[in-house]
Amino acid sequence: VDVDPSAYEHGLEDGESRMYAEMLEQPAAVERALRGRLDDRFGTAHLGGLNLDARELRAIRRVKMLGCGSAYYVGQMGAALVEELARIPADAEAASEFRYRDPVIEPDTLYVAVSQSGETIDTLLAVEEIRRKGGRVIGLVNVVGSAIARACDGGIYLHAGPEIAVASTKALTNMYVAFALLALQLGRVRDLSIADGKRLVNALQELPAKLEQVLKLEDEIAEIAADLAQCDSMFFVGRVRGYPVAREGAQKLKEISYRHAEAYQTSELKHGPLALISPEVPTVAIVPDDELTERNVAALHEIAARGGPLVVVTHDGVDLGALDVRRIDVPRLERELDPILLTIPLQLLAFHAAESLGLDIDKPRNLAKSVTVE
Ligand code: AGP
Repeated sequence: VDVDPSAYEHGLEDGESRMYAEMLEQPAAVERALRGRLDDRFGTAHLGGLNLDARELRAIRRVKMLGCGSAYYVGQMGAALVEELARIPADAEAASEFRYRDPVIEPDTLYVAVSQSGETIDTLLAVEEIRRKGGRVIGLVNVVGSAIARACDGGIYLHAGPEIAVASTKALTNMYVAFALLALQLGRVRDLSIADGKRLVNALQELPAKLEQVLKLEDEIAEIAADLAQCDSMFFVGRVRGYPVAREGAQKLKEISYRHAEAYQTSELKHGPLALISPEVPTVAIVPDDELTERNVAALHEIAARGGPLVVVTHDGVDLGALDVRRIDVPRLERELDPILLTIPLQLLAFHAAESLGLDIDKPRNLAKSVTVE
């Protein structure tokens, strides 16, 4: 697939990687995703494409996200958002596995297919399985008129613009934004207060500026990335909101730098993988300022005690004690939006690791932009 470089808002400089251009476009892409969808007055979102009225939205008892690879990890982040804001049980599953377990399709479950390309065969077949059994499925899709968009009952277009690099960045960020809008709308027809709704509307409006701030951390992240690129294997760890962030960070690094990166829940380290920690195996830890910070910091001590080098993606002001770590501080917004701001440094980390190794970032070996065969 090729696209005219002028499709990128700021153009594409000679030899510049598309992934790089797409990362830099994220603030503008988020603005597009939000345009016309926020309601300041009632602290809610308007997503006309869902084709569901307030009564139907209220009747939803469960939400299930389905996607592959990074779209699955953002689906996990989205499930947490829906559960937190709308208090509806929600989870995510790899679309590639879903239909093979002959899933029970429930009429009051809202199924959400998540895909940049809208052509991923596993996600498309999951949609067809759900519809065949009478379930209702909406799509979070970037490519307008794609197979998944056409197969769904309704959906939310991501408006990220063309994404060409195999390593997805701006589309994933817009998936997160689309989930935030969905969770807000679902929440506001239930028990989410108008004050909380307005708080989130304001936070979403501030998101593009915060993304700009994170992107400015590039130089310090590039230095860390060059060092990580020298290691054959590393861990990415996080808890609850931070865990899908860790999964996505490990995925990005594997895809384009070919370093082995394993994502783990921080709380699970002591149940096995701690045995692998050594001065040769660094850990990238996601430690937001939240109710788990103290526990996360305790785990960092466990890693440090075994000589494991630490890179910590955290918020400014978080006290990491006397630990010797390389820290990346992201700006604060509202807690619900932390995962997306914590993810951006990991994109930069993967990009600069691959660049320091002189790899072809936009065309990683063995991978295609969209997987259209089983
Ligand atoms: C992301 O960096 C990957 N290239 C990959 O995991 C991707 O997200 C996955 O294949 C799903 O693609 P889709 O969003 O086009 O369905």
